[in-house]
Amino acid sequence: MSIEPINLLATSNKKINGCIQVPGDKSISHRAIIISSISNGRTEINGYLNATDINATINACRAIGAEIKENLDTLIIDGNNLQRTHGDNIELNFGNSGTSMRLMMGILSAQRFSSTLIGDESLNQRPMNRVSDHLLRMNADIKSFDGTPPVMINPVSSIECVDHNVAIASAQIKSSIMLAGLYGNKSFRITTPKSRDHTEIMLSEFGCNISIDSDSIEMEPGKLITPNIINVPGDISSAAFFIVGSIISKNSKINIENVGLNPLRTGLIEILKMMGANIHITNIKTINGELVGNIYTESSRLNGIEIPKDLIASSIDELPLIALAASRANGKTSIRNAEELRVKESDRISSMTKMMEAFSISTDEFPDGMNVYGGSIKGARVNSFGDHRIAMTALMASLVSEGDILVENCKNIDTSFPTFIEIANNIGMDIKKND
Ligand code: S3P
Repeated sequence: MSIEPINLLATSNKKINGCIQVPGDKSISHRAIIISSISNGRTEINGYLNATDINATINACRAIGAEIKENLDTLIIDGNNLQRTHGDNIELNFGNSGTSMRLMMGILSAQRFSSTLIGDESLNQRPMNRVSDHLLRMNADIKSFDGTPPVMINPVSSIECVDHNVAIASAQIKSSIMLAGLYGNKSFRITTPKSRDHTEIMLSEFGCNISIDSDSIEMEPGKLITPNIINVPGDISSAAFFIVGSIISKNSKINIENVGLNPLRTGLIEILKMMGANIHITNIKTINGELVGNIYTESSRLNGIEIPKDLIASSIDELPLIALAASRANGKTSIRNAEELRVKESDRISSMTKMMEAFSISTDEFPDGMNVYGGSIKGARVNSFGDHRIAMTALMASLVSEGDILVENCKNIDTSFPTFIEIANNIGMDIKKND
């Protein structure tokens, strides 16, 4: 059973050892649920992430007429075959989940009912116009006051497919366009820098005609046919906490089984290897179009590096953990070209520099990133700024801190990793509630 995390206290100077599995990949779970919900037939989704962000997607998919039954770690979904659903005006609350809101904006734009999309305090401050600007070009009727939620969507007679140039390397923007485009009537192209391609892979699994080259995607709308079963691999973004934890702490060894290894998600592994980490990948196979394997890591000595620009998109959610690894490396690590971190669940550049300051680690803050100078981490009381990844990163720091670490405001760990504390404590950490 997961503990409800609010303020958490992590005892310093622990090691972690063991063989673990982490919950299902969040990005793939969202896509599996959304695409099953609009496809023809019944899909069984095994190993999906059962967490509050995913509940927001399930809730929105029920609103477009998909039938979704939950049974332990399996979902059974009867899709609506791309019907443009009629209904009353509704309000949908997406909680903390930017992925749910942005991807569902594409689908909701094509429905025959009006919807108002809201979120929690963090989501209500995040930019949605980066998505609606593209959907408006497809004839969608979307309004918001200043580009942030609430987002009001009204029905339109048709969705028009047009070509798009998306300057930001954002899987959420391109995915929303692709999902809206399914309701259109001709093929179209999205030209954009590379970002995680789970939507492209999942659409192919459902028979969509989609082709991908180095900087663009071309796809054709058309019926989606269920492959019947989707198996979701473990989330590398959740595995990442234990990968970094085992590398920075002494006498630690971890084997993490059945983790998604999509090359557009494994920037963390490449960066840690460049810093000198011992990481081995075994048992690689392809499941539903996604690479999956086991990750073995152990205590390693790290050196500071300049993170290459072309590894930023594939490590974007793991950059707080890279900053933690950097705080234990020799010399300076430079994380730049990462301005997207400013519009995540918190402003992660600001959250991380504040956390490092509390740990007595030196940093330089830039608009697009930070330098981190390796040193020793002091015990501290830090705030997670309501951001799940900042909370868990701070807790992992306890493995190497000189005193205990108290992390405030940890409730949002439940958005992506409700079993984090249980797994961490099973392999040697000591994290408990502290109210
Ligand atoms: C995600 C895409 C990324 C990532 C987020 C999940 C997705 O966001 O940071 O946690 O599942 O599509 P952007 O699309 O804003 O880069």
